[in-house]
Amino acid sequence: MSLIDKIDKNRLPAHIAIIMDGNGRWAKTRGLERGEGHREGVSAIRRVVEAASKASIQYLTLYAFSTENWRRPSEEVRGLMDLMVYAVSKETADLKKNGVRIRSIGDMERLPEYARTALEECVRETAGGTGLTLVLALSYSSKWELTTAAKKMAADVVKGVLQEGDIDEGTFSGYLTTGDIPDPDLLIRTGGEQRISNFLLWQCAYAEFYFTGTFWPDFGEDALYEAIIEYQRRERRYGKTSEQIESEQ
Ligand code: IPE
Ligand code: IPE
Ligand code: MG
Repeated sequence: MSLIDKIDKNRLPAHIAIIMDGNGRWAKTRGLERGEGHREGVSAIRRVVEAASKASIQYLTLYAFSTENWRRPSEEVRGLMDLMVYAVSKETADLKKNGVRIRSIGDMERLPEYARTALEECVRETAGGTGLTLVLALSYSSKWELTTAAKKMAADVVKGVLQEGDIDEGTFSGYLTTGDIPDPDLLIRTGGEQRISNFLLWQCAYAEFYFTGTFWPDFGEDALYEAIIEYQRRERRYGKTSEQIESEQ
């Protein structure tokens, strides 16, 4: 019995978010340059996207580059941008064929023009996909997103298109870059660190967290399925008691 058969199809996480960490350390343990780790990381992305589609996951969000990652050495940043452009350009046709729809979240204005154009092209080309929605978080951080949302809300209140009294959790969510995407049910972080690194702070309010020491380039289909199986062992209570949850089923 393969791992995918152990997944309960009726209790799938609708949205899985992944902090893909450990590329650099993966490379270092092999005596390779960090860039090699990032390249292997792209192969892991391909495997995980396929695996998520196969398991009928609706949304997969991948943290590919954080606002804080702009602080890395400029050659590494450039390498990551080039790799992103290469990967999206090369994969667009296959993604389209497999019904994968690409979206991006983050401060796209900070991306170099050539990277933004390549990404926009991929988003446009795959817009008709009806399978997995793959959300790429690029130049993203939650504090950036929340601050931007607060500014937009304030501007709309000034314009009179939003009333202060109408601001509730739903309106607030609508101002985030994730607008119409459901909150993640499962947040995975590879690479051994147990922190959230400014990722989807609002949206992960009730996500189940899964940390693994596996470096991202070593993560694959079975690793994803193991995380889903572990998720399905958890009881999501949302503040209620176990007894209440059981009686609702
Ligand atoms: C994650 O791997 C990829 C990005 C942040 C772009 P790292 O590059 O952070 O790898 P480590 O943490 O140094 O091993
Ligand atoms: C988080 O990884 C960001 C991405 C995976 C894109 P980092 O490796 O940059 O995180 P910190 O800074 O060590 O927390
Ligand atoms: Mg890291």
